[in-house]
Amino acid sequence: MKLKKTLLVAGIGILTLATAQLLFSDEVWSDEDKPWKRRPGVAPVSNQQYAEECGACHFAYQPGWLPARSWKRLMNTLDDHFDENAELSDEVQDDLTEYLVSHSTDDATHRRSRKVMRSLSDDETPLRITRTPYVEHEHHELPDRLVAGNAKVGSLSNCSACHRRADKGSFSEREIDIPGYGRWDD
Ligand code: HEC
Ligand code: HEC
Repeated sequence: MKLKKTLLVAGIGILTLATAQLLFSDEVWSDEDKPWKRRPGVAPVSNQQYAEECGACHFAYQPGWLPARSWKRLMNTLDDHFDENAELSDEVQDDLTEYLVSHSTDDATHRRSRKVMRSLSDDETPLRITRTPYVEHEHHELPDRLVAGNAKVGSLSNCSACHRRADKGSFSEREIDIPGYGRWDD
């Protein structure tokens, strides 16, 4: 009798722990907009070499913004990269391509990566994050004077100019602060 009771208590304990684990795991709550902020919208950059090489001229975009096919094409055309030469040694190029491809939207579970993926059809290979339907749509109400016409921003590609926690992979609306304009209220 006593043993049964102990087993029952232990069983309930394990069930409670398992439920808590499930409820608070990354897989279930994946949105930075939620008050408990368990997980950013895209996985933050986790490769130091990538952060240095691909963050030298602009924000080091998280791999989870583009599908693998886009990263492959971008990495194969670095000598002609948006009017710049961003060439790397073969070895570094291979390593970074591998990093980007394996962290692309293709297998991503983070919420915003999935939204990018869902917004694209299979035959589209965008070379710009800002040209993916999801990211484009999220900014369609933004007047040009706050972006290209804003000397402190320059272009929509400059994510971290407005998204204060962009480097954390967090793009919640409450974390937007546009230079010379301020917080964004819908
Ligand atoms: C020599 C400078 C330079 C380096 C190094 C560089 N880039 Fe760029 N990149 C640019 C410029 C310039 C643009 C265009 C920015 C704009 O339109 O405002 C750009 C744009 C991009 C965009 C598109 C952004 C958008 O508009 O959505 C991606 C993606 C990108 N770069 C990835 C990379 C990756 C990956 C690497 C590392 C292999 C890299 N870049 C290294 C100069 C560079
Ligand atoms: C000029 C400032 C600015 C720049 C640069 C910018 N954004 Fe934004 N972003 C905004 C504003 C403002 C909104 C909210 C727009 C709205 O609600 O109408 C927004 C919304 C978003 C959202 C949706 C947030 C939500 O409501 O859930 C995402 C995701 C996002 N931006 C990603 C990016 C990425 C990635 C880049 C860079 C490639 C970028 N943004 C560059 C200002 C900017």
